[in-house]
Amino acid sequence: AEDGYELWLRYRPLAAPALAQLQTQARRIVLAAPDSPTLRAAVAELQRGVAGMAGRAPALRGSVAPGALLLALPGRAPAGVSVDWAALGPEGYVLRSLVLQGRRVTLIAASTDRGLLYGSFAWLRAAQTGADLSRLNERSVPKVGLRLLNHWDNLDRHVERGYAGASLWDWWRLPDIVDARYTDYARANASLGINGAVLNNVNAKADSLTAPYLAKAAALADVFRPWGVKVWLSARFSAPRELGGLKTSDPLDPAVRAWWQAKAAEIYRLIPDFGGFLVKANSEGQPGPQDYGRSHADGANMLAEALSAHGGVVMWRAFVYAPEAKDRAAQAFDDFKPLDGQFAPNVIVQVKNGPIDFQPREPFHPLFGAMPKTPLALELQITKEYLGFSTHLVHLGPLFEEVLKADTHHGTTVAGAVKAIAGVANIGTDRNWSGSQFDQANWYAFGRQAWDPDLAAADVAREWVAQTFTARPAARDAIVALMADSREAVVDYMTPLGLHHLMGTGHHYGPAPWVDNLERADWNPTYFHRASRSGIGFDRSARGSKAVAQYAPALARSWGDPRTTPPELLLWFHHLPWDHAMPSGRTLWAELVARYDRGVATVDSMARRWAALKPDIDPQRHAEVTAYLTVQAREARWWRDACIAYFQSVSGLPLPAGTRPPE
Ligand code: GCU
Repeated sequence: AEDGYELWLRYRPLAAPALAQLQTQARRIVLAAPDSPTLRAAVAELQRGVAGMAGRAPALRGSVAPGALLLALPGRAPAGVSVDWAALGPEGYVLRSLVLQGRRVTLIAASTDRGLLYGSFAWLRAAQTGADLSRLNERSVPKVGLRLLNHWDNLDRHVERGYAGASLWDWWRLPDIVDARYTDYARANASLGINGAVLNNVNAKADSLTAPYLAKAAALADVFRPWGVKVWLSARFSAPRELGGLKTSDPLDPAVRAWWQAKAAEIYRLIPDFGGFLVKANSEGQPGPQDYGRSHADGANMLAEALSAHGGVVMWRAFVYAPEAKDRAAQAFDDFKPLDGQFAPNVIVQVKNGPIDFQPREPFHPLFGAMPKTPLALELQITKEYLGFSTHLVHLGPLFEEVLKADTHHGTTVAGAVKAIAGVANIGTDRNWSGSQFDQANWYAFGRQAWDPDLAAADVAREWVAQTFTARPAARDAIVALMADSREAVVDYMTPLGLHHLMGTGHHYGPAPWVDNLERADWNPTYFHRASRSGIGFDRSARGSKAVAQYAPALARSWGDPRTTPPELLLWFHHLPWDHAMPSGRTLWAELVARYDRGVATVDSMARRWAALKPDIDPQRHAEVTAYLTVQAREARWWRDACIAYFQSVSGLPLPAGTRPPE
C-alpha cells in the first residue's frame, strides 16, 4: 500500500533508460575502508536501494572493476584517486565518476565512515531523482556542525504539539524490546545528515534522568549510533531536588554541582557518545537558576562543567518572556545579550527563529549576529503548531530559507551566525510518520537545508517530490509549485501583513483575534494585534516598545519607519491607521481584506492543481491529500471570515468595494 511509510527512501523500480544506467553504474561495491558498523549501514543501504531500483543488489567485492561503487577513506584509496581529504572535515563527502586503472567507477570518498554514509545516501538520492550517474562530480560539506531534531515527546508518549500520533519511543517496552521502526527513523535522519536527536520534551520530567530511563535511552542510542545520530536529553533543572533528595538545585551549590557531575558520568557510562542536555529554564514556569537568584549563564555553565569532561554540550534555550515585560518580543534579547561572553565554551544558546513563537511569518530573532562571543543555535519548528497542524498543506522550506538566508547586518546571515540548527520534530507513530504526506517534506526540508543553508527551498522540494510522488518532470514541477505557494497562502489567510498570534488559546489551531481575557496579558491575541477604532498593529518603533532597536542599525532604521518596512512585516513593527496608504494603492484596511482573500484563493488553486494531478499519483495518497485540502479550503475561509468580521467590528469600516460577502 502507498501509505508513505518509506518516506523518501522508496527505491521503486526505475524505468529505462535510467534502469540500464543504474545497472551499469552499480555492478559491485568495493570498500577502501576498514569495517565498521557505520560502513556496514552504508553498504546495506546502497544494496537495498539498488535492489529496489534495479532489481538486483550489488555484491561486495575486493577488487575494482567497471561499474564499481568505490567507498574510500584517506590512506586506503587506490592509486589514482586524488581527493582533498582535509577539506571534507568529519562529515563531508565527494561523489565522482572517474576512470581508475582503465575502469569507469564511481568514487564515494570521505574522511570518516560517517562521511561515506552521507555520500552513499547522496548517491542514492542522485539515482532516485534521475541524475546522470555517469557524470557525477559533487563535493558537499555541511556548514553547520550540529543538526538536531528536538522531540517534544513526553514519557507517557503524548507529543506536545505533535500531530502525527504518539511518540515513537515506546518507553514501556524499552530497553528490551527494540522496535525495528527506530532503525528506519535513524536511516531517514542519516539520509538528510541529521546527526542528533533530543528524545524528550523541553518541558522535561526529571524521570528521564533516572537509571531505568537512561537504560532505555541507551538502547535507542545503540540503534542510532551506526547511522550517526547521537542521543541528547532535555534536562529538568530541578532534578537534583526532585531525584537527588537535595534541598536545592542552586547552580552555585557544591552538592548540586556534584550531583550533576555524577549524573553526567552515569549517562556517559551508558551512552559514551551522548550529545548533551537541552534545557528550558525559567521559561513558561519551568524551574531554573533564577529561582535561586542566579543567571542563565550560572545555570548553563554548571551543566556545562558536568558535561565538559565527556565532550558534551549544553543547549540552553533563550525562549523566555515574563508577564511584566512591556513587549514579549523584546525580552530574550534584553535578558541574553548582556550575558554574551559569560557562557562556558561548551554552551550553545538556542534561539527560536523569531522573537515570538513559530508564527507563519516573523522577522528573524534579533539575537542572531548580536552575541559574537556565544555560539548560538537556531531553533525551527517542523511541527506546524501555528500553521494548521498536519491538516493544512504548508511547505516550510520557504520559511526555513527565509530565516537561514536573512541578512542580520552584523556581517553574516542567520545561518552564518549559528553553530547548530535544531528542528522541533513532526514525527510520530502515524504510518506516514508526519501526520500527512506533505508534512514529510518539512522533515526533509529541515534536514537538507540544515546541511546546506544555501540550498534553494524549491530545489529541495523538487528532490523530495521526485523521491516520493513522481520524478516525471511536468507533474513533479507542478507539485513543487503548489508547495512553493503554500507558505504565503497560510500567512495570507491567518496572519497577513505582519500580524501574529491570532490563534485560539492553548491549541493554537483556529482564529481567535477577539480573545482578551487570558490569565496572562501576553498570551492574548489582542495584545499582539492592538486593533482599535483608530488602527491596528504592534508599535515596536521608537514611539512604541522600541524593540526594533535590537536589530543592527541599518535594519533598525528601515524597519523602524513604516515607509521602509516591507508590507510583510508592517504590523509587526507598526501601529497604523486603517486608512494608511499601502504600496498597492489600497488603504491598509482594503489591503488586509485583499490578503485574506488571496490566501483563500491560493488554497482553492492548490486544490484544483492537485485534482489535475490525479493521473500522476497513486490513488491512496492522492485521495488522502485531496481530503486534507478540502478541510484546508474550508478552514482558510473560517480564518478569513472570522478575522475580517472581528476587525470590522473593531474598525467600524464597511467591507471594501468589490469584496465578496462571507460564504
Ligand atoms: C510554545 C508552545 C509550547 C512549548 C513552548 C516552548 O509556547 O506552545 O508548547 O513548550 O513553545 O518552546 O518551550
